[in-house]
Amino acid sequence: MSKLTGKIAVVTGGSSGIGLATAKRFVAEGAKVAITGRNQKALDEATRELGPSAIGVQGDVSSVQDLDRIFKTVGAQLGKVDALVINAGVYVLGPVAEFTEAQFDKVSDINFKGAFFSVQKALPVLKDGASIVLISSTVNGKGIPNHAAYSATKAAVRSLARSFSADLLSRNIRVNSLAPGPVDTPVFTTVTSNADEAKAMAAAMGDFAPVKRLGRPEEIAAAALFLVSDESAFMLGTEILVDGGVRDL
Ligand SMILES: NC(=O)c1ccc[n+]([C@@H]2O[C@H](COP(=O)([O-])OP(=O)(O)OC[C@H]3O[C@@H](n4cnc5c(N)ncnc54)[C@H](OP(=O)(O)O)[C@@H]3O)[C@@H](O)[C@H]2O)c1
Repeated sequence: MSKLTGKIAVVTGGSSGIGLATAKRFVAEGAKVAITGRNQKALDEATRELGPSAIGVQGDVSSVQDLDRIFKTVGAQLGKVDALVINAGVYVLGPVAEFTEAQFDKVSDINFKGAFFSVQKALPVLKDGASIVLISSTVNGKGIPNHAAYSATKAAVRSLARSFSADLLSRNIRVNSLAPGPVDTPVFTTVTSNADEAKAMAAAMGDFAPVKRLGRPEEIAAAALFLVSDESAFMLGTEILVDGGVRDL
């Protein structure tokens, strides 16, 4: 039997990269999956690619009103949720001396506030015993130039896994954090000005990892599957690194 037969899952930011690979794996394992994202066209394409077991619900995770609507829609269309992957996030880089308030607000509102209120608004439609995975980043435990604000948002997310697990113990809802290293997704195009620069940055990030390559989104999806499945039933409030050795080598 597949690992998620009969289960309902939500993957925020499921229209691209790690989120889309995770949604694909969950569908392959028998789940019905709702994905979210801001861009309706990208969401429609991803939903089509995922097939009849998936629905797309448009919305911005930095808007609490959108999150409220998203999870009400999921509850109405799919029912109570077993697995929630809080993956929507943005990569905003810059040196502390030049980082603007607008950049700071953007990365905080999407990565930190978005994660916090995604969980809060999901609570009414989560089953008791559900599993929540917060996508963090290995950089939450390292000092890297230009990463101060981004890494801090991911440290906040890692912290939420502990505190949310404590808050939700009575409902037997487990919350864990999954920290990828550099992964081959479209994210590098969002912090560079053209395709050549994005390719060069991706190559440099792969080289930065001790394994000398980028991770594949499917390698992160495999860890997400483990964390939402009963295989990880004794794990809560902790962090799994899937980072090609970046943190520890
Ligand atoms: N790739 C890496 O090397 C890496 C490493 C460590 C951690 N991560 C983390 O992994 C997660 C996924 O990254 P990725 O590389 O797969 O990025 P990606 O390919 O750029 O995908 C990001 C996804 O998040 C959605 N999203 C972004 N802002 C949103 C918002 N305000 N509201 C709703 N959805 C939003 C995007 O859709 P729309 O743009 O249409 O909204 C898209 O579906 C992020 O949290 C990232 O920080 C990535």
